[in-house]
Amino acid sequence: MYWGMFAAQWLHVLLGTFWFGWILGVDFILIPALSGLPVERRHEAVERIARHAVRLVRPAAILTILTGILRGIVWGRIRSVTVLFETRYGVAWLVALVAASLTFAWAELVVRPAVERLREIETAEIAASSAEPAVPDAGGPAGQLGKVRLFALLELLGLLVVFTAMILMSFS
Ligand code: HEM
Repeated sequence: MYWGMFAAQWLHVLLGTFWFGWILGVDFILIPALSGLPVERRHEAVERIARHAVRLVRPAAILTILTGILRGIVWGRIRSVTVLFETRYGVAWLVALVAASLTFAWAELVVRPAVERLREIETAEIAASSAEPAVPDAGGPAGQLGKVRLFALLELLGLLVVFTAMILMSFS
């Protein structure tokens, strides 16, 4: 029993750190750095990064949530509905579960399509720029990049709720 709990916690903290760290890196390092690049170079970088991110971050996020559920129910204090709704630990766990699930859905249903749209707009922009110089407009790559930045910041907000719930649980 002890080793199962140890393994679940080990995996949980590692994968949760990976997920949270990725979003922090995207918001405060990657997007500011890519914003300054010419469209052609950014397009290539975004394509490569997005491919790797989907392959690694998606399973990490899913496993973080699953190990968090196991760590709470099988090897934790979530043993009854009373504990879940009437203790600080239970409420913090529930908040973490809901916030993490919503954040994951947000990333899949809103952020990822916005990045794909950015890539489409950039492809069109690159094709058109060989004909005439591009004039920046709100519907162009700059406007779409702004949307991606906002959506990724909201994703971070969701994970900050989860992170705060983790701290609250450790003080309960
Ligand atoms: C980005 C997401 C997450 C991160 C970075 C994260 C991080 C952590 C960390 C660092 C701990 C160790 C805390 C300590 O021992 O003081 C922990 C424990 C724990 N986490 Fe998470 N976590 C995340 C998501 C979740 C979710 C979604 C759930 C619930 C479904 C969850 C449930 C738990 C539980 C039950 C514990 C053990 C608390 C205890 O009894 O000591 N975590 N997490």
